[in-house]
Amino acid sequence: MPLAKIEDANARFRAAIRALTGIELPAQKIPMIEQRLRKRVLHWGHSSTESYMAALLAGEMDQAELAIVVDLMTTNTTSFFREAEHFQILRDDLLPQLLRPVRGQRPRLKLWSAASSEGAEAYSLAMVLAEANRQGDRFDWAILGTDLSGRMIEKATSAIYAPDQLTGIPVDLARRYLMHASSGPMAGKLRIVPELRARVRFHQMNLMDEKYPVDPGVHVVFLRNILIYFDAPTKAAVIERVTRHLRPGGYLFVGHSESMVVRHPELAQIVPTVFQKVSE
Ligand SMILES: C[S@@+](CC[C@H](N)C(=O)[O-])C[C@H]1O[C@@H](n2cnc3c(N)ncnc32)[C@H](O)[C@@H]1O
Repeated sequence: MPLAKIEDANARFRAAIRALTGIELPAQKIPMIEQRLRKRVLHWGHSSTESYMAALLAGEMDQAELAIVVDLMTTNTTSFFREAEHFQILRDDLLPQLLRPVRGQRPRLKLWSAASSEGAEAYSLAMVLAEANRQGDRFDWAILGTDLSGRMIEKATSAIYAPDQLTGIPVDLARRYLMHASSGPMAGKLRIVPELRARVRFHQMNLMDEKYPVDPGVHVVFLRNILIYFDAPTKAAVIERVTRHLRPGGYLFVGHSESMVVRHPELAQIVPTVFQKVSE
């Protein structure tokens, strides 16, 4: 393929991914893109990544192929209790306040892991809430995890992890909330216990959508390590839409490298990476 056509297919591909997902793929990411698409290029017998891209962009492939490609362009790095101080802040500072009885009743806490990847963040939150429940007065709670990647949503729903993915979990919590399998297809892996799985659900969702199928009145949103992939207007639009789902007094957590980008008239910064919704 002539150089000009290669550059064109690449630039158009990166623009299309950006429009669909918000994910910015600057030219220096071309080697990463090529590596992630290699299997698809071979699968369809294309002679180069660019000819595969050109076919995809020309609409010669079906929606299923496009969905696979979008999924491949996501970076899903995550871990249990990642940025551990967030879970401490939630447990020690925010939960006592969020659980203050209203008209004699404790609220049912709703939490949302808004770019959940394979579920480590949502299940870490679940462990914190289950522990608070075990150690204090009982309260009801539910956690939602959403992600663009269907592959990650499937993994998160299965709640099955290899031991090396679980190293961030404190030992006492691992003992209480992980099940071991000694035989069968799960041998050597661990699964989150049913009592947590029953309270955590996942569904696929694109943060680029204008409306999110998520309950209003969420108490805590974790929107961590996702804004970094977006350009400034997309960051602002996503923060605006997510904030609509927070109840007044609710909290938004972002990743450590993302605190500077959160500017919203209804969000007050309480520590660098945690914001509280202040208005009705
Ligand atoms: C780096 S992971 C962060 C996971 C977790 N929040 C954490 O901090 O460990 C980013 C996740 O965002 C998801 N993602 C990327 N673009 C998205 C979009 N437009 N809508 C929803 N999720 C998206 C990816 O699939 C990926 O799983």
